[in-house]
Amino acid sequence: MDTPHYDHLTLQDYEKVYEPAEDTFLLLDAIEDDLEYLNTVQPGVCLEIGSGSGIIITALSKKFPNAVCLSTDINPWACNTTKRTSLRNKASVDPIRTNLTDNIKNNLVDILLFNPPYVVTTDEEMNQEKNFESDTTDNNLIFSWAGGVDGRRVIDTLIDKLDSILSPIGVLYLLVLKENKPKDIINRLAKNNFTANIFKERRIPGEHLFILKVMRC
Ligand SMILES: C[S@@+](CC[C@H](N)C(=O)[O-])C[C@H]1O[C@@H](n2cnc3c(N)ncnc32)[C@H](O)[C@@H]1O
Repeated sequence: MDTPHYDHLTLQDYEKVYEPAEDTFLLLDAIEDDLEYLNTVQPGVCLEIGSGSGIIITALSKKFPNAVCLSTDINPWACNTTKRTSLRNKASVDPIRTNLTDNIKNNLVDILLFNPPYVVTTDEEMNQEKNFESDTTDNNLIFSWAGGVDGRRVIDTLIDKLDSILSPIGVLYLLVLKENKPKDIINRLAKNNFTANIFKERRIPGEHLFILKVMRC
């Protein structure tokens, strides 16, 4: 799977939008590693939550050109950047500015991807100046990384909505950090009738990253 071009993105873009980093490329690598399985899914609808620069959903769109590829982000600049990245790569992605999957029809998504804000912070730090109407750089970028207690606030919200998001054959690839307590996440998913396993992991300086692959039991 080719890494999409992102040479059109500038330093000014990265003042407002999360710059592709090790976590981004780990999620891309995981998708590439699981292409044999994903080909059997024959996805009709793919969705990346929190698409940032858009390179992950763009790569998926290139791989599955017949699928409807959607992305969401609470950051309007990220939605704009995702669209530009898809166009730069002659892919088809429709970005939606929304919280997680709000306003998207239930049980539609065959392949769901999320590299969430996973950094452990206080809830106060995470919620500071929370105002989706604001377009300022600071307000937008904090939501790229601040995850609240255990870095789990957004992750746990997604887990509790997952049953209404995934299609019957749907699969989620979720990036988490060791500090997010992956085993605890797997147990929480099991209580919601999902089976999850550690599909891929990578240690980088200061972080131990995991990709969880999640499906219905
Ligand atoms: C760690 S960045 C990942 C960006 C990109 N997917 C990547 O891997 O490079 C997390 C992204 O999620 C977005 N985000 C945070 N909370 C969100 C929410 N509740 N709903 C939608 N997007 C959210 C942020 O604005 C940011 O673009």
